[in-house]
Amino acid sequence: MLGQLAEQRANWVKEHHFTIQGPVNIQELCRAFARERLVRVENFLSFSDLELLQSEAMSNLPRMVFSYIPTHKKGHTLSYENIQRHARNCVGLYHSDELREWVSSIAGIPVFPTPDGDQSSLSLLCYREAGDHINWHYDHNFYRGRHFTVLLSLANESPHGGVSKSKLMRKTSKGEESIDTSANVLVLFEGAKVLHRASPTDEGDLRIMLSMTFCTDSRISPLKEIARRVKDTAFFGLRALWD
Ligand SMILES: [Fe+2]
Repeated sequence: MLGQLAEQRANWVKEHHFTIQGPVNIQELCRAFARERLVRVENFLSFSDLELLQSEAMSNLPRMVFSYIPTHKKGHTLSYENIQRHARNCVGLYHSDELREWVSSIAGIPVFPTPDGDQSSLSLLCYREAGDHINWHYDHNFYRGRHFTVLLSLANESPHGGVSKSKLMRKTSKGEESIDTSANVLVLFEGAKVLHRASPTDEGDLRIMLSMTFCTDSRISPLKEIARRVKDTAFFGLRALWD
């Protein structure tokens, strides 16, 4: 089934070409990433591209699966498998040459989408009920190469105007830092080296992130493959063990 979906997506990638607006000074971003292991870019996509992804995300809200792990996380997620079925433009962006080349240029090393069997490769994360959050963590790297996380904010709003109470935060040697993830902000970071969390939402907030992972070498040992599947159950349930 994953093979069939992978064949279909080659057409979706061709169907729509995304316009990455991004900042002009790529070299400056590249230096910042080497120093900080995290960069943030505003107005990443053109407005029409953002709207396309936003409407896909909103139409998939009823399909998102609720997960709750006391003290660690609470929220809704759309799995890679369901994104492939119901959000072809999200798949198109993830597998586009434009995004892969952009991430490679900032990371300073060629990167590739992580494997289809990894449910965390591409997911929609939705924080929409009071108290939705994910606590401090590193993104575990199960692969032989380096591993990068890209978060593209598709929606971030409060019923009172402005952005939601849910903030992307990281810990550095200087303390905690809040990273603005207004809609159309993209954050690229090396999650195995950046301690981060999403703080809790307030009543009526809506925050939707398209989460995409890339790696430099997707080979994985059998033991780490088992560990990766166990980790996926936290977001996607027990099916992640055998899917
Ligand atoms: Fe994370």
